[in-house]
Amino acid sequence: MGELHVIDHPLVQHKISLLRDKNTGTKEFRELVSEIAMFICYEATRDLPLKEIELETPIAVAKTKVISGKKLAFVPILRAGLGMIDGVTSLVPAAKIGHIGIFRDPGTKDAVKYYSKMPEDIEEREVIIVDPMLATGNSATAAISEIKKLGVKSIKFMCIISSPEGVKAVQTAHPDIEIYTGVIDEGLNEDKYIVPGVGDAGDRIFGTK
Ligand code: URA
Repeated sequence: MGELHVIDHPLVQHKISLLRDKNTGTKEFRELVSEIAMFICYEATRDLPLKEIELETPIAVAKTKVISGKKLAFVPILRAGLGMIDGVTSLVPAAKIGHIGIFRDPGTKDAVKYYSKMPEDIEEREVIIVDPMLATGNSATAAISEIKKLGVKSIKFMCIISSPEGVKAVQTAHPDIEIYTGVIDEGLNEDKYIVPGVGDAGDRIFGTK
Protein backbone atom coordinates (compact mmCIF):
# COMPACT_ATOMS: atom_id res chain seq x y z
CA MET A 1 0.00 0.00 0.00
CA GLY A 2 1.30 3.47 -0.91
CA GLU A 3 2.16 5.43 2.18
CA LEU A 4 -0.24 8.05 3.54
CA HIS A 5 1.60 11.16 4.77
CA VAL A 6 -0.28 13.60 7.00
CA ILE A 7 1.76 16.79 7.21
CA ASP A 8 1.08 17.72 10.82
CA HIS A 9 3.56 20.62 10.94
CA PRO A 10 2.20 23.44 13.16
CA LEU A 11 2.43 26.02 10.35
CA VAL A 12 0.38 23.80 8.04
CA GLN A 13 -2.22 23.12 10.73
CA HIS A 14 -2.48 26.82 11.62
CA LYS A 15 -2.92 27.84 7.98
CA ILE A 16 -5.54 25.13 7.41
CA SER A 17 -7.53 26.58 10.33
CA LEU A 18 -7.44 29.99 8.64
CA LEU A 19 -8.66 28.35 5.40
CA ARG A 20 -11.62 26.78 7.20
CA ASP A 21 -12.93 30.08 8.52
CA LYS A 22 -15.92 31.14 6.43
CA ASN A 23 -14.88 34.76 6.98
CA THR A 24 -11.56 34.26 5.17
CA GLY A 25 -11.87 36.19 1.90
CA THR A 26 -10.71 35.24 -1.60
CA LYS A 27 -7.33 37.00 -1.50
CA GLU A 28 -6.29 35.44 1.79
CA PHE A 29 -7.75 32.04 0.87
CA ARG A 30 -5.76 31.97 -2.39
CA GLU A 31 -2.54 32.96 -0.59
CA LEU A 32 -3.07 30.31 2.08
CA VAL A 33 -3.70 27.54 -0.48
CA SER A 34 -0.47 28.48 -2.21
CA GLU A 35 1.55 28.61 1.03
CA ILE A 36 0.17 25.30 2.34
CA ALA A 37 0.87 23.69 -1.06
CA MET A 38 4.48 24.83 -0.72
CA PHE A 39 4.86 23.24 2.72
CA ILE A 40 3.25 19.96 1.66
CA CYS A 41 5.39 19.90 -1.48
CA TYR A 42 8.47 20.26 0.73
CA GLU A 43 7.55 16.91 2.29
CA ALA A 44 6.42 15.30 -0.98
CA THR A 45 9.87 15.98 -2.45
CA ARG A 46 11.80 14.74 0.58
CA ASP A 47 12.78 11.48 -1.16
CA LEU A 48 14.13 13.03 -4.37
CA PRO A 49 17.46 11.37 -5.14
CA LEU A 50 20.68 13.35 -4.74
CA LYS A 51 24.07 13.00 -6.37
CA GLU A 52 27.39 14.31 -5.19
CA ILE A 53 29.19 16.93 -7.26
CA GLU A 54 32.36 18.90 -6.75
CA LEU A 55 32.57 22.67 -7.07
CA GLU A 56 34.71 25.52 -5.85
CA THR A 57 33.51 27.79 -3.11
CA PRO A 58 35.50 31.03 -2.56
CA ILE A 59 37.37 29.05 0.14
CA ALA A 60 37.91 25.47 -1.08
CA VAL A 61 36.73 22.64 -3.30
CA ALA A 62 33.48 21.25 -1.89
CA LYS A 63 31.91 17.87 -2.40
CA THR A 64 28.25 18.80 -2.29
CA LYS A 65 24.85 17.46 -3.32
CA VAL A 66 22.36 18.34 -6.05
CA ILE A 67 19.07 16.77 -7.06
CA SER A 68 19.51 14.03 -9.65
CA GLY A 69 17.27 11.52 -11.36
CA LYS A 70 13.99 12.21 -13.05
CA LYS A 71 12.61 15.69 -13.50
CA LEU A 72 9.29 16.68 -12.00
CA ALA A 73 5.92 17.58 -13.45
CA PHE A 74 2.99 18.91 -11.45
CA VAL A 75 -0.53 18.17 -12.68
CA PRO A 76 -3.33 20.26 -11.16
CA ILE A 77 -6.83 18.80 -11.41
CA LEU A 78 -8.96 21.66 -12.81
CA ARG A 79 -9.99 23.89 -11.48
CA ALA A 80 -9.12 24.07 -7.76
CA GLY A 81 -5.75 22.37 -8.29
CA LEU A 82 -4.59 25.51 -10.11
CA GLY A 83 -4.55 27.29 -6.75
CA MET A 84 -1.65 25.09 -5.60
CA ILE A 85 0.61 25.69 -8.61
CA ASP A 86 2.25 28.96 -7.51
CA GLY A 87 3.27 27.36 -4.22
CA VAL A 88 4.73 24.17 -5.65
CA THR A 89 6.55 25.90 -8.51
CA SER A 90 8.14 28.33 -6.07
CA LEU A 91 9.91 25.26 -4.65
CA VAL A 92 10.61 23.51 -7.97
CA PRO A 93 10.79 26.28 -10.60
CA ALA A 94 12.07 23.94 -13.35
CA ALA A 95 9.08 21.60 -13.09
CA LYS A 96 6.74 21.35 -16.04
CA ILE A 97 2.97 21.63 -15.60
CA GLY A 98 0.31 19.38 -17.14
CA HIS A 99 -3.41 20.05 -16.79
CA ILE A 100 -6.25 17.63 -16.39
CA GLY A 101 -9.95 18.47 -16.27
CA ILE A 102 -12.42 15.97 -14.84
CA PHE A 103 -16.15 16.40 -14.25
CA ARG A 104 -18.76 14.22 -12.62
CA ASP A 105 -21.33 12.89 -15.10
CA PRO A 106 -24.67 13.91 -13.52
CA GLY A 107 -26.33 10.70 -14.75
CA THR A 108 -23.80 7.95 -14.14
CA LYS A 109 -21.88 9.90 -11.41
CA ASP A 110 -18.70 8.65 -13.10
CA ALA A 111 -15.63 10.88 -13.29
CA VAL A 112 -15.18 11.90 -16.93
CA LYS A 113 -12.02 13.48 -18.36
CA TYR A 114 -12.83 16.54 -20.50
CA TYR A 115 -9.36 18.05 -20.86
CA SER A 116 -5.78 16.87 -20.77
CA LYS A 117 -2.61 18.63 -21.86
CA MET A 118 0.63 17.15 -20.63
CA PRO A 119 4.32 17.94 -21.18
CA GLU A 120 5.58 15.93 -24.19
CA ASP A 121 8.14 14.06 -22.07
CA ILE A 122 5.67 13.26 -19.27
CA GLU A 123 6.55 9.54 -19.21
CA GLU A 124 10.14 10.45 -18.27
CA ARG A 125 9.05 12.58 -15.31
CA GLU A 126 7.96 12.04 -11.74
CA VAL A 127 4.42 13.38 -11.52
CA ILE A 128 2.79 15.02 -8.52
CA ILE A 129 -0.97 15.48 -9.00
CA VAL A 130 -2.38 18.37 -6.97
CA ASP A 131 -5.95 19.08 -5.86
CA PRO A 132 -6.76 20.84 -2.57
CA MET A 133 -9.71 18.56 -1.70
CA LEU A 134 -9.66 14.74 -1.81
CA ALA A 135 -13.40 14.16 -1.29
CA THR A 136 -14.95 11.05 -2.91
CA GLY A 137 -11.64 10.22 -4.58
CA ASN A 138 -13.34 9.86 -8.00
CA SER A 139 -11.42 12.70 -9.68
CA ALA A 140 -8.13 11.73 -8.07
CA THR A 141 -8.55 8.08 -9.05
CA ALA A 142 -9.47 9.02 -12.64
CA ALA A 143 -6.55 11.49 -12.91
CA ILE A 144 -4.09 8.88 -11.66
CA SER A 145 -5.45 6.32 -14.18
CA GLU A 146 -5.09 8.81 -17.05
CA ILE A 147 -1.52 9.63 -16.12
CA LYS A 148 -0.61 5.96 -15.70
CA LYS A 149 -1.96 5.38 -19.25
CA LEU A 150 0.66 7.83 -20.52
CA GLY A 151 3.41 5.54 -19.23
CA VAL A 152 4.32 7.53 -16.10
CA LYS A 153 5.94 5.24 -13.53
CA SER A 154 6.16 7.49 -10.48
CA ILE A 155 3.04 9.35 -9.34
CA LYS A 156 2.23 11.04 -6.03
CA PHE A 157 -1.03 12.69 -5.02
CA MET A 158 -0.98 15.89 -2.98
CA CYS A 159 -3.97 17.58 -1.35
CA ILE A 160 -4.63 19.89 1.58
CA ILE A 161 -7.77 18.32 3.10
CA SER A 162 -8.92 14.75 2.57
CA SER A 163 -11.81 12.59 3.69
CA PRO A 164 -11.35 9.00 4.93
CA GLU A 165 -13.57 7.91 1.99
CA GLY A 166 -11.32 9.64 -0.55
CA VAL A 167 -8.14 8.23 0.94
CA LYS A 168 -9.64 4.73 0.89
CA ALA A 169 -10.85 5.10 -2.71
CA VAL A 170 -7.41 6.15 -3.97
CA GLN A 171 -5.61 3.51 -1.94
CA THR A 172 -7.98 0.80 -3.20
CA ALA A 173 -7.78 1.78 -6.88
CA HIS A 174 -4.09 2.68 -6.83
CA PRO A 175 -2.28 0.93 -3.98
CA ASP A 176 1.08 2.05 -5.40
CA ILE A 177 0.40 5.79 -5.00
CA GLU A 178 1.65 7.83 -2.04
CA ILE A 179 -0.79 10.43 -0.73
CA TYR A 180 0.30 13.68 0.96
CA THR A 181 -2.39 15.57 2.85
CA GLY A 182 -2.46 18.33 5.46
CA VAL A 183 -5.32 16.75 7.39
CA ILE A 184 -7.92 13.98 7.21
CA ASP A 185 -11.38 15.33 8.10
CA GLU A 186 -14.44 13.54 9.51
CA GLY A 187 -16.11 12.50 6.26
CA LEU A 188 -18.47 13.58 3.49
CA ASN A 189 -21.96 15.04 3.72
CA GLU A 190 -24.84 14.02 1.41
CA ASP A 191 -23.64 16.57 -1.19
CA LYS A 192 -20.17 14.99 -1.11
CA TYR A 193 -18.56 18.00 0.55
CA ILE A 194 -15.88 17.33 3.13
CA VAL A 195 -17.03 17.94 6.75
CA PRO A 196 -15.95 20.27 8.28
CA GLY A 197 -13.76 21.07 5.25
CA VAL A 198 -13.59 24.53 3.72
CA GLY A 199 -16.64 24.50 1.44
CA ASP A 200 -16.08 24.67 -2.31
CA ALA A 201 -12.34 25.25 -2.68
CA GLY A 202 -12.62 26.32 -6.35
CA ASP A 203 -15.24 28.96 -5.56
CA ARG A 204 -13.20 30.25 -2.63
CA ILE A 205 -9.93 30.40 -4.63
CA PHE A 206 -11.46 32.10 -7.65
CA GLY A 207 -14.17 34.14 -5.89
CA THR A 208 -16.96 32.64 -7.97
CA LYS A 209 -19.46 32.50 -5.11
N1 URA B 1 -14.55 19.83 -3.46
C1 URA B 1 -14.51 20.96 -2.72
O1 URA B 1 -14.13 22.02 -3.20
N2 URA B 1 -14.90 20.88 -1.43
C2 URA B 1 -15.30 19.74 -0.86
O2 URA B 1 -15.63 19.74 0.32
C3 URA B 1 -15.34 18.58 -1.66
C4 URA B 1 -14.97 18.65 -2.96
